Order: sequence, then C-alpha cells, then structure tokens
Amino acid sequence: MTAQDDHHGAEVAERTEKRWATISIVIIIVLALLAAFAGIHQVTMPQARVETTDPTRLHLSGEFVESNLGSALESNGAVTVRAIGQQYSFTPACILVPAQTPITMRATSADVVHGILVQGTNVNTMLVPGYVSEQFMRFEKTGDYLMPCQEFCSFGHEGMWGKVRVIDKAEFASKAKSGGRLSCVGE
Ligand code: CUA
Repeated sequence: MTAQDDHHGAEVAERTEKRWATISIVIIIVLALLAAFAGIHQVTMPQARVETTDPTRLHLSGEFVESNLGSALESNGAVTVRAIGQQYSFTPACILVPAQTPITMRATSADVVHGILVQGTNVNTMLVPGYVSEQFMRFEKTGDYLMPCQEFCSFGHEGMWGKVRVIDKAEFASKAKSGGRLSCVGE
C-alpha cells in the first residue's frame, strides 16, 4: 500500500460519510415537517367526520325532529336509526331493527353528555350535545338487547335505559312498507 492509496481511501470514506450524513439529515427534516403538518393542519382544520347540530333546536327542525326519530328502511336495503339521549331517557326508548342488515345509528344529546352501549355487542359511543355520533352495527340474531346510558349524566343516570329489539328481516320490511319511522316503544 502506498501513501497515495491511503489518501485515496480516506477520500472515499469521507465522501461516503458525508453522503450518509446528508441522507440522515434529510430524513430528520422530512419527519419534522410531517409532524408539524399533522399537528398544525389537524388542529386548524375541522376533521372531515365531525358533524355538528344545535342541541337547543333539535326538536324544532332538522334531522332529529321527533317525527324523524326511529328506524328508517333506506332504498338500498340498509337501515338508519336516529335517536336522542336526554336526562334520563332515550328517544325512542325501544329501537327496532332487522337482523342481518347493515344499520347506521345516528344519535345526539339534547342536554349533557350521555352514552349508548348495546349489551353483548361492540356498539359503544358517547352522545355529546352539539355533535352527531354515528355508529355502524349489524345483528345476526333476533332478540332484545339492553342499551344502558354509559356516561354518568347526573342523579338519574342509573335509571337511563333503552332497548334494541332485533326482529326478522322480512317482518321489519313489511312493517316498513308504509314508510315512516319505526320503533318498538309501547310494544
Ligand atoms: Cu344519560 Cu347517563
């Protein structure tokens, strides 16, 4: 090995080292920019899925007026359930849905924070005044499922219970024929 070879080897090493140092600095800058974008962009822009509603006007107009609450059979065969939680009950208190059908539950609160939990399923969502909570569900078997409020909403909380009644798909379809909103309140 000559002194010249040595010198050449050191040059190659230095160049390689610089190249890798540049790459790692670029990676760090990209990560910092991604973090800044996610942090700033997400808090300055409303999230795409947030839906708001005015809790003081729910009963007057819009999606959650009383005549629109309950279960609706959509033209594509799916079902949309609309419900309200208020101290200390759900409206409708008995939700009627068909088995083996994709169901979208849309619900909100008319006063304080409540929660909806359907026993034995993974349906579990908060109802926050001013916001619409959307939850997808599907029941394979018919039957009754308890639906307690799962957020403490003051002294009547323990008494705030609803029910989901899952009935046969054909039976639901025949009930839904006349249009309108279905529930099992008073049945
Ligand atoms: Cu409503 Cu707890």
